[in-house]
Amino acid sequence: MSCVFHPVKTKFGHGRRAPRRILALLREPALSTSAAPVKLIAHPIKRLEGRVRAPGDKSVSHRALMFGALALGETVVSGLLQGEDVLRTAAALRALGAQISRDGDVWRVRGFGVGGGREPDDVLDLGNSGTSARLLSGILASHPFTSFMTGDGSLRRRPMQRVIEPLSRMGARFQSREGGRMPLAVIGTDEMVPIEYTLPVASAQVKSSILLAGLNTAGDTTVIEPQATRDHTERMLRHFGAEVRVEPVEGGPGKRITVVGWPELKARDIIVPGDPSSAAFAVVAACLRPGSDVMVENVGLNPLRAGLYTTLKEMGANLLFKNERELGGEPVADLHVKGSKLKGIVVPAERAPSMIDEYPILAVAAAFAEGTTHMHGLAELRAKESDRLSSVAAGLAANGVKHEMGTDSLAVHGTGAAPAGGGLVTTHLDHRIAMSFLVLGLAARAPVAIDDGAPIDTSFPGFVALMNGLGAKIEAA
Ligand code: S3P
Repeated sequence: MSCVFHPVKTKFGHGRRAPRRILALLREPALSTSAAPVKLIAHPIKRLEGRVRAPGDKSVSHRALMFGALALGETVVSGLLQGEDVLRTAAALRALGAQISRDGDVWRVRGFGVGGGREPDDVLDLGNSGTSARLLSGILASHPFTSFMTGDGSLRRRPMQRVIEPLSRMGARFQSREGGRMPLAVIGTDEMVPIEYTLPVASAQVKSSILLAGLNTAGDTTVIEPQATRDHTERMLRHFGAEVRVEPVEGGPGKRITVVGWPELKARDIIVPGDPSSAAFAVVAACLRPGSDVMVENVGLNPLRAGLYTTLKEMGANLLFKNERELGGEPVADLHVKGSKLKGIVVPAERAPSMIDEYPILAVAAAFAEGTTHMHGLAELRAKESDRLSSVAAGLAANGVKHEMGTDSLAVHGTGAAPAGGGLVTTHLDHRIAMSFLVLGLAARAPVAIDDGAPIDTSFPGFVALMNGLGAKIEAA
């Protein structure tokens, strides 16, 4: 925070800009300090109707702030997601010396440049945010100081070894809890060595962490991903002026991504598209209630993120992409969705990276479909904010939906009729479990309660109001 207040000190009372900056600071959404659970209940409704705008994309928002911090000059970001996870990234970057301020819907980042961060004087608390933790570890590892990261109960259970391993090969050192869990001490260096690293899991976070470390590393750092994952980092690296080479891996869907070290990143403006992962909740809810008619505007449809929409169309969803356009270098459309009769399908494992966050809401859609929906390649779901495969299975069981869970698969047996509902779902600090089962409650035969809706703010502040504005009935239980 000190970097935001600093210019105010000397000018306060004289300069015109000081009060405006203070107001901007006061308007910034506060990080939640209370861990009190908020029980919510969703009641069955008739139909959803209306037009809403998807909140900013979480992945793009984190990266916009990080690249702004690594660039010289002022980066102006519009459409940033003002969710808790992104605010955690902003706070961590401020602790490293970036000046970040908000003026209405516009965020301004004055960066410290590649390798120019300063040692944070306290532990970086990244809350619930795996993206903050994994991507920042690449930035921290390539600075010559020691920093400390922690997070909430969910984040402290998540695997960090997947970034510790490649970043250690580059020369950083780490101290973690058992099994590479946070809290984590990152003993960084500005003498990183470039590596060529094949990802053992399909993870855009691990890829991005290595590429970010590669920025402050002499020479070429290469990540080979056997399965293509979201490419926002590569797109943004180019946007800020870094040299990035992307080549196909022979005989497969993978890519070989190389970043050339020590670029001078220059500040650039960024427009954040709407988040397809957040839009999914309103889209599926509208599919499930006959007579619904909903437009979700401004949804990012990067092909490496849009797997759910391909899947819903295959299931028979009445879903149209309207007004397709480019926004900030990403494909975007307005999604027009109506009540639909869905059928069960097989969702292939190869599609998983393009819809990895959407399986909980897909499982809910599948519960209303006629026939069985088979989902494969789900092992990574166990490493999310909760063990999502188990959380989804437990939520389905609590609401009378027949299903089978395998080690990396899920089969949901729909009958074409609304499931019983009536269950109480445990969310395990997982925002997507919370939102998915509230959607189930809107269309089931009896209301569905969740034990804690507080984590929804990590990715979708205003979710309840937005859904209720469309005709949903979600309230405190
Ligand atoms: C993200 C990548 C995915 C996704 C997460 C955001 C990103 O995680 O689940 O919500 O912004 O890079 P993995 O890299 O662990 O698959």
